[in-house]
This record gives sequence, C-alpha cells and structure tokens, in this order.
Amino acid sequence: MLRGRLEADVLTRQSTPGGTDMSVRSVEDIAPDLSLSQARMTEAGPLTAVGPETSLTVKSAVDLVVIGLGYVGLPLASGAVDAGMSVMGLDVSERVVRGLNSGRSHVDDLSHDRIVEMLGGGFRATTESQVIRSANAIVICVPTPLGDDGGPNLTAVREAAWMVAKNLAPGALVVLESTTYPGTTDEVVRPILETSGMSAGRDFSLAFSPERIDPGNSRFGLANTPKVVGGYTQGCAARAAEFYQRLVERVVLAKGTREAEMAKLLENTYRHVNIALVNEMSRFCQDLGIDIWNVIDCASSKPFGFQPFYPGPGVGGHCIPVDPNYLSYSVRTRLGYPFRFVELAQEINSGVPRYVMRRIQDLLNSRKKSLSTSSVLLLGVTYKENIADQRESPAKPLARLLAGSGAAVSYHDPYVPVWNYGAGAINCVPDLDAALQACDLAVLLQAHEQYVSSDGVRGAALVFDTRRVTNGRNVSHL
Ligand SMILES: NC(=O)c1ccc[n+]([C@@H]2O[C@H](COP(=O)([O-])OP(=O)(O)OC[C@H]3O[C@@H](n4cnc5c(N)ncnc54)[C@H](O)[C@@H]3O)[C@@H](O)[C@H]2O)c1
Repeated sequence: MLRGRLEADVLTRQSTPGGTDMSVRSVEDIAPDLSLSQARMTEAGPLTAVGPETSLTVKSAVDLVVIGLGYVGLPLASGAVDAGMSVMGLDVSERVVRGLNSGRSHVDDLSHDRIVEMLGGGFRATTESQVIRSANAIVICVPTPLGDDGGPNLTAVREAAWMVAKNLAPGALVVLESTTYPGTTDEVVRPILETSGMSAGRDFSLAFSPERIDPGNSRFGLANTPKVVGGYTQGCAARAAEFYQRLVERVVLAKGTREAEMAKLLENTYRHVNIALVNEMSRFCQDLGIDIWNVIDCASSKPFGFQPFYPGPGVGGHCIPVDPNYLSYSVRTRLGYPFRFVELAQEINSGVPRYVMRRIQDLLNSRKKSLSTSSVLLLGVTYKENIADQRESPAKPLARLLAGSGAAVSYHDPYVPVWNYGAGAINCVPDLDAALQACDLAVLLQAHEQYVSSDGVRGAALVFDTRRVTNGRNVSHL
C-alpha cells in the first residue's frame, strides 16, 4: 500500500498547432509501481440491459459510466463524448433518462441540440446498473444534500457505491466527484466497493476528484478548469489522472483522497466567508453613509492580495450555503469543536434576506407607504443570473418574509414560468413592463440579462437593486 507518498504535482496537456499533445509525463513517470497493464485486467463480456424507457445493448467495454446525470454528471458525459470516449449515463430517475434518450436536456449548460449530438456520438442513458459491468471508468456524481441534523446526507453516494460494488469489473477505475466531507472516499465508498471481494489499489482503482462546474459560466467549463485528483494509492492517482487528462487541459494531483476532498471544501468555504464579509460590511457601510460598491471597486484596483466579492440578497445554489456545512459538521462531530468561520458566515449570509426586507420596508416608508399594504415585485428568483436553477435561492425566504408582513408578492423570471416559495404555486407575471408600473416596489434579486440591458427596470416607481446592475432616480442599491 502506497498511501500518502505522492507529492502534489501537476500534469499539463499542452495544445499544439496540430492538436493536443497527450504525450507529456506518462503515468509510469509519476507512479512507476503501477503498470498500465495492471490498470485494466479484464474486460467484461457482452451486456444487454433493457429498461422501461430505453433498450440498449452494450456489446463491448464502455470507456465511461457516469452515475448521476445532473449539473455535474451531464457536462462530464458531454466532455467525454467530445474526447472520443464511449459513454453511458446511469441515473435513478426514469424521467431524466427518458428525456436524455429522446434528446431533451434538463441542465442549463447543455442545450437540447447538444444532447442530440451526444446521442449521435453514442451516448445513452439508462436506469440499469448492469451497465457498470462493462465500464473501464465509473464516475459518481450523485447529490449530497444536507441531512436533518445539518450533516451531509450520503444516501445517494452509498446507493451509487452499492450499485458499483455489485457490478464492478476487476481493473476498473472508480471516482467520486460528489462534494462531501473529507474521508468519505476512504471510509464510506471504499468499504462498500470492497464488499465485491476486491481491494482498492490492487484489484480496482479508487479516487476522488472534486467537481468545479460553475453553471452558466461561459468562460470556464470542464476542459479549461484544472481538475484536482486524489487517489487512494499512488497508482490509483495515476490511473485517475490519466483518465482526466483525456478530458481537461490540466490535472492537479493531490496527496490523497482527503486532500482532494478538503480542497473542494476550502474553495467553497473561502467564497462563503468572503461573501459574508462583504454582506456584513454592506450593512454598516449603509449606516455610515458609505457606498460599499465603490469601496469594493477601489480595493479591487490593488493588483495583488485582494479578490473582490460582492454583497447580494443572500447566498444560493449548493456550493456556498450547503457544502461548507459538511466541513463544520465533520469538525464538530469528529473533533468536538466548532469551525467558527463557517458557522459565522452561515449566520451572516442566512440573515441577509431579513436585512433586505428591512431595507425594502425603509424605502417604502420613505414614500409614506407601508410594507403590509404594498405590492412587491421580485425580479429573478433563481440562485444566480441567467440560469434556471432555483436551489437554495434566497428569493424564497425573502418572499416568505414579505408575504408574512402582509405585502402582495409577485415575481418575474424569464427562466421560471411557475414558482412556489411556500405559499402555493404562482405564475410569472405575463407582462414585465405592466407589472413594473403596477407595483409599489420592484426588487432586483438576480442580474438576468433582461434586467441589465436596455433599462430593464425603468418603469417602476421604486427599485431596490441588490446587484448594482441598474441605475436611475428610482433605483436604490443594497
Ligand atoms: N451543481 C453544481 O454547480 C455543483 C458544483 C460542484 C459540485 N457539485 C456537487 O456534485 C454533486 C452532484 O450535484 P448536481 O448539481 O449534479 O446534482 P443534480 O441534482 O443536478 O443531479 C444529480 C443526479 O443524480 C441522480 N441520482 C440521485 N441519486 C442517484 C443514485 N443513487 N444513483 C444514480 N443517480 C442518482 C438524480 O436523479 C439526478 O439526476 C453534489 O455532491 C454537488 O454538491 C455540484
């Protein structure tokens, strides 16, 4: 066993005028103790899997099976198809599988046309776990929500690991990409996989590689975002690095699975804490009559040692409000003491919707109106701009607070035709201009292109812009 002896290293796939040079450092260079012939010891035989929604026949080995076809798994499958791999997607949701096999995307970053292209490249989705038997590599991208106790709910990770254990072929590579607390790959996934009778590092390869996908980011995608890889052994790391080198420009080797797991949590916690910092500063800057946005612009002129973060109506998505809790939970339960930065950031960021409500109240009062008799139009209810994802969006707690104070709440969002913030489903206002004119106050929560361009909020009497993307005499900023 060679655990923990690999130093942090970087593999770079260099672009050449004629294409991509894949001949940079070989796997043997970094892990001479693992021969590639050992990496793939057997090939599974022909497999026929017939699901209720798809019928597929896999006659030969599949390069990759992606388990969990959501925001993380589907872009990975897409990148792998582009890299010339034969790819199967495995998901428990028949709706997801049926949709994909009929060319429909359910993920913002991939269009329907792209799914059709993937199908043309041989991609198929299935609910049948036997597809794993023929896989050279299996990557697990299932959800890791927060449990009722505030800790990570690893049910889907365990279920996926059991599916793999029951179908694992010797020599395969298994990678966990789901965000989780450090130790999960070694302590939760490995023991389940080893119920197959095979040992990690000897009979199959095991690694963790955190997903860094940023939905809606047109500049950084799978290929040009470096991929951190931590192996259970040096050989596992080399095998995983070799796999990811086919998909991304740069692979960064972590010392082990725990370092790779922790790196993801450091990234997310760093953002969580810094967003909390500016959210807290924005409150007292408001009380001091200082423009926080201008403060951040000025500080950002420093060419080193400062990275700008901006205040907002609260944090959403999975990475910021949820993932850092895995770490504080893990520190508290294992070591018995708190991870104070995360807990403080959580407290500050989750309190922002209430602060936003107070600012709305003050603005209405300045016009001799009360919140309880006013109509408030929310603009953008997703968790970030220009995508449809609503997970953990701060719009929901804000809407509940406003409605609880008696305000008449309506919303507009080009990505969300029907919305439920907890008081039953409501429809998006059909005519934005008419709704802006009719409301007492509009709150800009997400900087969707429609609101930013062409004076999108001009018609409203009062606008509270939590993103500082609009200007005008009727506009106040957070
Ligand atoms: N969305 C992001 O921006 C993002 C970024 C980085 C990391 N992550 C992490 O990646 C993981 C996946 O997140 P996501 O956003 O892709 O989730 P998602 O909800 O978009 O997709 C998960 C998919 O997994 C399927 N699934 C659930 N249980 C399964 C099981 N047992 N077997 C097979 N399929 C199963 C679901 O049906 C769904 O299609 C999470 O741990 C998340 O924290 C997400």
